[in-house]
Amino acid sequence: MVSAAQRVESLSSSGIQSIPKEYVRPEEELKNIGNVFEEEKKDEGPQVPTIDLKGINSDEPGVREKCREELKRAAAEWGVMHLVNHGISDELIDRVKKAGQTFFSLPVEEKEKYANDQASTNIQGYGSKLANNASGQLEWQDYFFHLVFPEDKRDLSIWPKIPTDYIEATSEYARLLRGLTTTILSVLSLGLGLEEDRLEREVGGLEELLLQMKINYYPKCPQPELALGVEAHTDVSALTFLLHNMVPGLQLFYQGNWVTAKCVPNSIIMHIGDTVEILSNGKYKSILHRSLVNEEKVRVSWAVFCEPPKEKIILKPLPEVVSEAEPPLFPPRTFAQHIEHKLFRKTQELNGSK
Ligand SMILES: [Fe+2]
Repeated sequence: MVSAAQRVESLSSSGIQSIPKEYVRPEEELKNIGNVFEEEKKDEGPQVPTIDLKGINSDEPGVREKCREELKRAAAEWGVMHLVNHGISDELIDRVKKAGQTFFSLPVEEKEKYANDQASTNIQGYGSKLANNASGQLEWQDYFFHLVFPEDKRDLSIWPKIPTDYIEATSEYARLLRGLTTTILSVLSLGLGLEEDRLEREVGGLEELLLQMKINYYPKCPQPELALGVEAHTDVSALTFLLHNMVPGLQLFYQGNWVTAKCVPNSIIMHIGDTVEILSNGKYKSILHRSLVNEEKVRVSWAVFCEPPKEKIILKPLPEVVSEAEPPLFPPRTFAQHIEHKLFRKTQELNGSK
């Protein structure tokens, strides 16, 4: 019997003044965790690029090319960007956020009815991280995780029943994001000198590419300088799309420093994930990132990970993008093997640092 995970929300609302040691980050990390509101105000130094997608399919070649060029450059230099004029209405995005926030505003006992079973392979549902490595390290967040596209692969029985708009708003958002994914992948394909639909096909196409939503709920933290909401990682996905409730938290590791993402109104943050980095042989970057927490405001974010099927596809740099001068930087691996490899490497690093 696996004991139930400690909900961070319960811990936060219990009134504790200091956080349990499992949430305290290792010494080296503590040196660079600051106050996120102060960090967000900083204007000096590099900033996450904002890409205006208005012209992405413009009939005017000049306008179209300029927009596509900016998107490709941001994908190559940063691997993360704020997308504006992305074509998904503010009204729908507000509904998605309201639905998720309403669900999380339910008492913990109500949410527990949706608790996932981390001992099984189905991790869909309400959850919190269980310590799964030697350090016992935990993160300051609870989440709700579920597959949102393709529609025939969804399990609507585990989706939140409260509020009633949850399924409709989230489904419509997923459908529109799937369209945006195709557009972005086609621009990235052309940018590599490939056929327009090549990356889309390489990640599984309409049938196999899976969109998984993770609503991250970061309660107020009494000692935010000691904890992280999500520890530093790169996304394994092809692309990740992120919404948030305008509370800062996301940091990107760019040129040796942690850069805090500003809260850009009506934007969707997009990450290039490891999958596209591998296929492009590193021409597009999967950037290291993490989330800070704070003492004043609950932060909520909605990540949609666009992922290739676990076993069906071997991911490796596409032959057209490798050459003698640019040999493959990544060995062939299935998506599952890639995830396994990252876990293995992390465990080794942990053991090595003891
Ligand atoms: Fe991430």
